[in-house]
Amino acid sequence: MPLKIGLTYDLESDYPADPENAPDANSEFDSVRTIKALKKGIKDAGYILIDFGNFGNLLKIRESLKSRADIVFNISEGIKGRNREAQIPILLEYLNIPYIGSDALAMSLTLDKVLTKQILIVNKIPTPFFFVYEKAAFNNLKLNFPMIVKPRWEGSSMGINSKSVVYSKSELEKRANFIMKQYRQPALVEEFIIGSEYTVPVIGNSPPETLEPLKVKLNGMEMDNNVFDNSFIRSEGIDYVPLTGREKLKNKLRALALKTYNCVECLDFGRIDFRVNNNGEIFVLELNPLPALNTDDALAVSAKHIGWKFSELLDKIIKAALMRYKMVHKTGIN
Ligand SMILES: Nc1ncnc2c1ncn2[C@@H]1O[C@H](COP(=O)(O)OP(=O)(O)O)[C@@H](O)[C@H]1O
Ligand SMILES: [Mg+2]
Repeated sequence: MPLKIGLTYDLESDYPADPENAPDANSEFDSVRTIKALKKGIKDAGYILIDFGNFGNLLKIRESLKSRADIVFNISEGIKGRNREAQIPILLEYLNIPYIGSDALAMSLTLDKVLTKQILIVNKIPTPFFFVYEKAAFNNLKLNFPMIVKPRWEGSSMGINSKSVVYSKSELEKRANFIMKQYRQPALVEEFIIGSEYTVPVIGNSPPETLEPLKVKLNGMEMDNNVFDNSFIRSEGIDYVPLTGREKLKNKLRALALKTYNCVECLDFGRIDFRVNNNGEIFVLELNPLPALNTDDALAVSAKHIGWKFSELLDKIIKAALMRYKMVHKTGIN
């Protein structure tokens, strides 16, 4: 009998837009298209798919959850706050149900970009200079413009567009105040790295492995002064291009991706975003333990480049978790 995999997710249509929130507040939630592709991919990989939906649905059926699925594939973003991605993992931990993907602690930690950067720094992983905006301390800082202002704990480029890149203290102050008010959280200010953008998917545990590193391009061009804007996510403008040649850069990106994944103890899968400046210096921007999983997103593009179908990519992620829980004995990602 094939294993039963419960899928947990937040659909955009589960949460009507709230005029009190920022206009892009629902960007992290998944489209029907993504969930359809995932369900098909899990079934194509030979598992029985059990559709659980969001946290609210899980609460309603919590007594019977354990008997309905052998393991849960969680891609839920959660509702609000910096622990939102940990909501379903915590419930599953409480119910003693195995689940695929990072645990509650890694989810919360990596959503908070400031805590993550502090861990990166301790581990000597290069990340752009940063500070958390506070008016009192701000006037005495010596800053290298341009800088970028972001919400401290969001994803999917929420609150990030061309206005986020600031060139003076007054612009910075204005944008930081806007972010704090609109997103009800501290503003993170970082040195803006002009150059190319890369992203590296990682799969597995002890040891994890990288898939093919990808360059992120916007309308065929380097990212340079542009940012991965929230509106690009659903547009055609973004391309993920496998790096042909460039072995030295690829090896450095792979090594840093693994080090980053390990230092926050990610599980089963993740994706690390990078910028490389015009002097070739590499910086980790962030780590995503819940990277977008659609057939045209970075993980699928990278997997395709090494010859895996989408269902195989999902199977490798599932097998990584099964192995961790000792639910299968032998597997590898290759
Ligand atoms: N320090 C930076 N230098 C250059 N570009 C940046 C920097 N921080 C963010 N960006 C741009 O903004 C995008 C989103 O930022 P990121 O920190 O990855 O937030 P999110 O969690 O919303 O994806 C990045 O993909 C990149 O294009
Ligand atoms: Mg990102």
